[in-house]
Amino acid sequence: MKVAMLTGGGDCPGLNAVLRAVVRKGERHYGDTLLGFRDGWRGPIEGDTMPLDIHALRGTLPRGGTILGSSRTNPFKVDGAPEKVVATLAELEVDALVAIGGEDTLGVANRLHAEHGVSVVGVPKTIDNDLSATEVTFGFNTAVQIATDAIDRLHTTAESHDRVMVCEVMGRHAGHIATWAGIAGGATMVLIPEEPFDIDEVCEAIRHRHEDRERYASIVVVAEGATPKEGTLELVSGEVDAFGHVRLGGIGQVLAEEIEKRTGYESRVTILGHVQRGGTPTAFDRVLSTRFGIAAIDAVHDGDFGSMVALRADEIVRVPLAEGVGELKTVSPDLYHGVAEVFFG
Ligand code: F6P
Repeated sequence: MKVAMLTGGGDCPGLNAVLRAVVRKGERHYGDTLLGFRDGWRGPIEGDTMPLDIHALRGTLPRGGTILGSSRTNPFKVDGAPEKVVATLAELEVDALVAIGGEDTLGVANRLHAEHGVSVVGVPKTIDNDLSATEVTFGFNTAVQIATDAIDRLHTTAESHDRVMVCEVMGRHAGHIATWAGIAGGATMVLIPEEPFDIDEVCEAIRHRHEDRERYASIVVVAEGATPKEGTLELVSGEVDAFGHVRLGGIGQVLAEEIEKRTGYESRVTILGHVQRGGTPTAFDRVLSTRFGIAAIDAVHDGDFGSMVALRADEIVRVPLAEGVGELKTVSPDLYHGVAEVFFG
């Protein structure tokens, strides 16, 4: 078969490992010809391709980013673009497409399959881990490890200066990275989108902690999408992308200023930003990406189009793409209230 691949949306550690696995099993086991589309959905719209074979993927397993490039291009926002994708696939005689992405990229894959009959298999990626059909997406483990390492480092400098350190992490509208890194890093407080916070309560917990111990320090981990309870703190919202998502980031700064103003404790902010998405994947993410890649090329050869590979109870399974992109996975209250919160203050 002739199998094409693309990587869309924000990059994430492990993308190259998926490409490598698809190519390896596709070429060696099935005798496929592989090719890549550059920059997400822009590639098939414009017919921008690159050849992929075992040789081209050498050395990419530990490499972050994606050798195919990525973009947030949404074909359903450009006149005639879905038809162009279909035409490119026909012109290049592509039998199947493996789309690697998060809810946006896979949402497009789902529509192209349902509305235009494109033979596509999805692979879930995102550091945000917010796809409900899979227990975990690759990239999340790496992001959590990077955030945890940063929090560990912030602890020692915070303690030396008796400061409040606010650490802003990514995750969009889900607080998985914040909750996991907060638990792993021993945060004083974790603020997530799922649980609107009250700045008075945050300050009270910090005050109590510092007064109680004479000289201490606090680490507040805040997810970029965390929101204050209505009417308690003003936030300015950012621009919107092709999928209608607002660009997040900056709540950490507002929070640190507010905490300092209200408590009198010197506060600083660290916004981890894209550091969480860059660099080498952890061993866990390399293995998960590899398993997903193998499962995706197997799904292609089973003709199981319109499906997405997913991890459930440590098994790789297939679910309909529609299910894969249907619901946002948020942080379980058991983990947040039952575990993270026990260590607040
Ligand atoms: O979805 C992954 C993610 O890193 C989010 O956590 C974040 O809000 C967004 O992408 C940032 O996007 P960009 O790379 O376009 O700034």
